[in-house]
Amino acid sequence: MAEKAEAEYYSKDFEWEDLRRVVENDPSLRYHLTPFVSSSSCAAPAVEADAWRSFHRRHSAGKFFKERRYLLKEFPELIRISDPVKVLEVGCGNGSTVLPILRAKQNITVYACDCSEEILRKAEEIIATGSAISLVPRFFTFLLDVSVNDFPDWLFCTSCRRNSSPEPANFSSDSRGENLEMSHMSAFLREDQCCIGGVDFVTMIFTLSAIPFKRMPSVIEKCLSVLRPGGLLLFRDYGLYDMTMLRFLSEQRVGFCEYMRSDGTFSYFFSLDTARNLFLAAGFTEVELTYCCITSVNRQTGKSMQRVWVHGKFQKPV
Ligand SMILES: C[S@@+](CC[C@H](N)C(=O)[O-])C[C@H]1O[C@@H](n2cnc3c(N)ncnc32)[C@H](O)[C@@H]1O
Repeated sequence: MAEKAEAEYYSKDFEWEDLRRVVENDPSLRYHLTPFVSSSSCAAPAVEADAWRSFHRRHSAGKFFKERRYLLKEFPELIRISDPVKVLEVGCGNGSTVLPILRAKQNITVYACDCSEEILRKAEEIIATGSAISLVPRFFTFLLDVSVNDFPDWLFCTSCRRNSSPEPANFSSDSRGENLEMSHMSAFLREDQCCIGGVDFVTMIFTLSAIPFKRMPSVIEKCLSVLRPGGLLLFRDYGLYDMTMLRFLSEQRVGFCEYMRSDGTFSYFFSLDTARNLFLAAGFTEVELTYCCITSVNRQTGKSMQRVWVHGKFQKPV
């Protein structure tokens, strides 16, 4: 019973359609809905990744860490498999998503990337102290600006991707990807392996919204490329008309449903249609896609806030 209540809490306190009607009929919010005429000023390459690096440097105490306890309720498939499971967390931050996944089951290994070296070290620190049983041997981090660079070959090399066999093909060590950091990777890549053979799950939890909209298609294609056939991409991110979207000022708009915070980080707010179009265009099939509409109350002010998230599961075709 308690489990059911928790699961429901993260899905529907109000109807998204009701919120849509209120927002779209409020003249003071109209600027969020008008078509956006792009200016060249926000198009500098990868500035948003720099902004995230600065963000993590400023918040190096890691106070922003909040374990996503609901994650396994929302994505129970992560713990349904008894065979070894490989998960890639894209934009792992300080490990809020990684920690509950690693703790859930011993058969899960998590590979995690972020564009900030500083936050990767923080995540490693948090994972090292996050459980009585050591999670460290099942947690591997690597630095990557996913909006600019490809995933390293050791995740799923081209030859194995082409064959798409359940086990990676054997190659000499010379064929391992250039990005391979041998000392680090030798911990989990056997001598006869050229790559780990792709991952079973990719998690993108509040990361895609941080990437400029025009770079999202290529990021999603890269995620598809490292998934094994039949693997799932688990997605959760800001939804259209979330309270934080409505707080942005007109001058903070950098695109349609896209905003830049004063610190230079980006935030995009997804409608179901936009999310669907992005993932399907990359080659995924849709398994689940809904709005999660949650009313949360600010303990200090007593004000209630209507939060909207998009929850999705997309599969790589077999
Ligand atoms: C809102 S946090 C989400 C962190 C984590 N997924 C979670 O569940 O808490 C977004 C993360 O994405 C990272 N990020 C932003 N742009 C990125 C990029 N281009 N490549 C890799 N990581 C990126 C940021 O550094 C940040 O840690």
